Amino acid sequence: MGEAKTNIILNEDYKDNKILFDKGEGDKIFFKNKAYIDLSNCAGSLILGHNSHVFKKSLKLYLNKKISIFAHPNIHAINFSKNIKKYFPNFSKIIFCNSGAEAVMKSLRLSKSLNKKNLIVNVVGSWHGSVDKLLFYPNKYLKPQKLSDGLSLDDKKKLIYIPYNDIAKSSKILNKFKNDINCIIIEPIQACLPLDNIKKYLQFLERFCKKNNSILIFDEIITGIRIRPGSIQRKYNINADITTVGKILGGGLPIGAIGISEKVNKIIKKKNFNYMKNSIAIVILFFLREEIKIQINRINFLYHFVRQFSILRFFCYLIDNSVIPSRDKIFIKLLIFLNKMLNL
Ligand SMILES: Cc1ncc(COP(=O)(O)O)c(C=O)c1O
Repeated sequence: MGEAKTNIILNEDYKDNKILFDKGEGDKIFFKNKAYIDLSNCAGSLILGHNSHVFKKSLKLYLNKKISIFAHPNIHAINFSKNIKKYFPNFSKIIFCNSGAEAVMKSLRLSKSLNKKNLIVNVVGSWHGSVDKLLFYPNKYLKPQKLSDGLSLDDKKKLIYIPYNDIAKSSKILNKFKNDINCIIIEPIQACLPLDNIKKYLQFLERFCKKNNSILIFDEIITGIRIRPGSIQRKYNINADITTVGKILGGGLPIGAIGISEKVNKIIKKKNFNYMKNSIAIVILFFLREEIKIQINRINFLYHFVRQFSILRFFCYLIDNSVIPSRDKIFIKLLIFLNKMLNL
């Protein structure tokens, strides 16, 4: 199979594309005043939609308070770290970056400094942004093929692929290279294939990394914080050594962050690293969080209302064995949907 001729670093989307959006509001983006529904909402970064009033309010407040972008350590980064730690108690330190790709790139560098091994294991279907070491895709024999010109052949040789959620096949490959694996990087819930039966697979990767002194990196740039506070790690009680988060974390502005575990922190303690700047995005999120709390309270109210109502109706049905009227079916459907959404 030949390698792709595309050149991802040149933003090919622009080539011959006549639809160039100029505005966004709520769930719509506009081209010459024609509205399109934006199902992506900027890859999940805009949880309240385009141009939300919270975003505008935060930006104004931010400017009024003379908060700036600092190249120096700043109080906002420290405060924000403390808040993130409430959601991710397994983060010992947080390093802020300006994009998700930067967070992944630095994570790989950090990982390389932790053991003397050479190979990076990536998982089929995971996407980690425009990061040279990972800008490959697997062919049907799981051999890396380049996604862009200008990549290093050396990086290609050091990349191994394992199939997502397939313990038997992954185990075979991992065991073959176990002495040389620096890290395994995975999008635990893949944006392109979100599965809910991945607990065992993630536990298997965690065990493998512990046993073989490899670093486990969870790339939760899309899913982190959005799935639930603490994300998949807290739900399954799995601790990645390094976690990357981003997107919604910036509340509508570009951001990336790396959370490192206590184990990794102990190793690098003597090394110098920073909390980084990016105070604009950080401050915006404070306000966004308040708004989300209000929204969640609203959803909770709706959820409890629907649940009470549906249970009552369903109970009536059981007692008198009457046929469920169609409006109750809708309520039950809504209940199931809300259950899934709120993960209750
Ligand atoms: C899982 C994942 N990791 C990393 C990135 C890169 O993030 P950014 O676009 O902020 O550089 C993306 C972007 O889509 C992503 O989905």
